[in-house]
Amino acid sequence: MANVSLREVRKDYGSFEAIKGVSLDVRDREFVVFVGPSGCGKSTLLRMIAGLESITGGDLEIDGRRMNEVGPADRGLAMVFQSYALYPHMSVADNMAFSLRLAGVPAAERERKVREVAGILQLGPLLHRKPGELSGGQRQRVAIGRAIVRQPKVFLFDEPLSNLDAALRVRMRIELAKLHESLAATMIYVTHDQVEAMTMADKIVVLQGGVIEQVGSPLDLYHHPRNLFVAGFIGSPTMNLLPASVTAVGPATVTVRLATGTEVAVPVLAGPLRPGDAVTLGVRPEHLNLGADGASGVAGEVLVAERLGGATYLHVRAGGGTMLVVQVDGDTPVHVHDRVLVPVDGHRCHLFGADGLALERTGRHPLADVTRAPRPLTH
Ligand SMILES: Nc1ncnc2c1ncn2[C@@H]1O[C@H](COP(=O)(O)OP(=O)(O)OP(=O)(O)O)[C@@H](O)[C@H]1O
Ligand SMILES: [Mg+2]
Repeated sequence: MANVSLREVRKDYGSFEAIKGVSLDVRDREFVVFVGPSGCGKSTLLRMIAGLESITGGDLEIDGRRMNEVGPADRGLAMVFQSYALYPHMSVADNMAFSLRLAGVPAAERERKVREVAGILQLGPLLHRKPGELSGGQRQRVAIGRAIVRQPKVFLFDEPLSNLDAALRVRMRIELAKLHESLAATMIYVTHDQVEAMTMADKIVVLQGGVIEQVGSPLDLYHHPRNLFVAGFIGSPTMNLLPASVTAVGPATVTVRLATGTEVAVPVLAGPLRPGDAVTLGVRPEHLNLGADGASGVAGEVLVAERLGGATYLHVRAGGGTMLVVQVDGDTPVHVHDRVLVPVDGHRCHLFGADGLALERTGRHPLADVTRAPRPLTH
C-alpha cells in the first residue's frame, strides 16, 4: 500500500512563497502527473514529498503516517531525476546495487535483485559496462533500475525523459507505462510534455504559481477545463480563446457574439450572466473545420498553413482582430491567402466568465462518452 496525502502543504524560500497550500490525494498504484509552466513549483513539491526539501507548513502523510520530519531514506520512496546522476566509475551492476550495499543487504541477495531488475529493463548484457559506455536511453534505464531495486512504495520522477531524443522518449514512455503496471507501484511524475502527461497519467495535477488549478483524469481536463488557465494549458495546439459578449441568455443556452459579428449558442448555464457581459469563447483547433460556401461562420484569410502530413493547422485572420487556428486534414487543398469560412459549433465550445471560470455545461457533451468507453478486450 502507498497512499500519499498532502494537506495544505506550503513552502517558503525566505519571503517567497513557492508552494501556497496544496492539498492532494495520491491513491495506491495511481500514476499522477504534475504539469504547469516553468517555475510553478512542480519540482519543489516532488522534492518535499521525497524529503529533499523541508516543508514550511501543512502535513505530508504516506499511508496515514505523518512524514514531515522523517528523513528521505526512511520514507520508502525512490526518486529519478532528469540528470541520471549515476556514479561514473562504477559498473551498471554496482550503480544499481549501491543503495542495497549501503543498506547492508548481503552480496548474493544484491546480485539476485540486480539481475532480476536488469531483466525487466533489458539491461542484462550491459551490467559490466560503465555509464560512459551507454546511450542516453540505457543510462536512463539504469537510473530507473537503481530506483526499482530498492522496492520503493512510491516512485518520484522529475522530467526523467527530457534529455532523450524524440524516438527514445516514445519508447521509454511505453516502457514506463508497462513498468507501472508490472510493479503495481504508486508513481508521481513531473513533465513538460503534453503527450507524456495525457498518455501516462491516471490523474493530472495542473499547477500554476504554487497552487493547484485543477486535478482530474486527462480527458476530464481536456473536455472540462475549469478555468481559462487549464483550457489554455491542456491541449496542443492550444485552444482558441476568443473575446465575446453575451447577446441572449436562455434556460440552457447562452448566445454570444464574437468580434467578427458571428453568433454562437453555447449549451451552458448562464448563472449570473446578463446580455452585454464580456466572456471568452473557447474552441479547440481540432473541433473546427472549414465550411462550404454559403455556410454561416467566421470568415477569414489563411495567413499560415502548417502542414504536418496527417493534419494541417491553418492560422486564420478574421474580422475584428480575431485569430483562429483550425485543424484540417493533411491533404486539404488550402493555401496561404485563401479566403475560408469556419463554422463554429456551440456544442464544441467552452464559455468562460469575466472571472475566468468555465460556465457549467448543460446537456450531454458530444464527446462525453469517450471518457467512459469500455476498455478494449485483452487476450
Ligand atoms: N532554493 C531555492 N531558493 C529560492 N527559490 C527557489 C529555490 N528553489 C526553487 N525556487 C523557486 O521556487 C519556484 C518553483 O521552483 P520549481 O523548481 O519547483 O519549479 P518547476 O515547476 O519545477 O519549474 P521547471 O519546469 O522550470 O523545472 C521558482 O520560482 C523557483 O525560482
Ligand atoms: Mg522542475
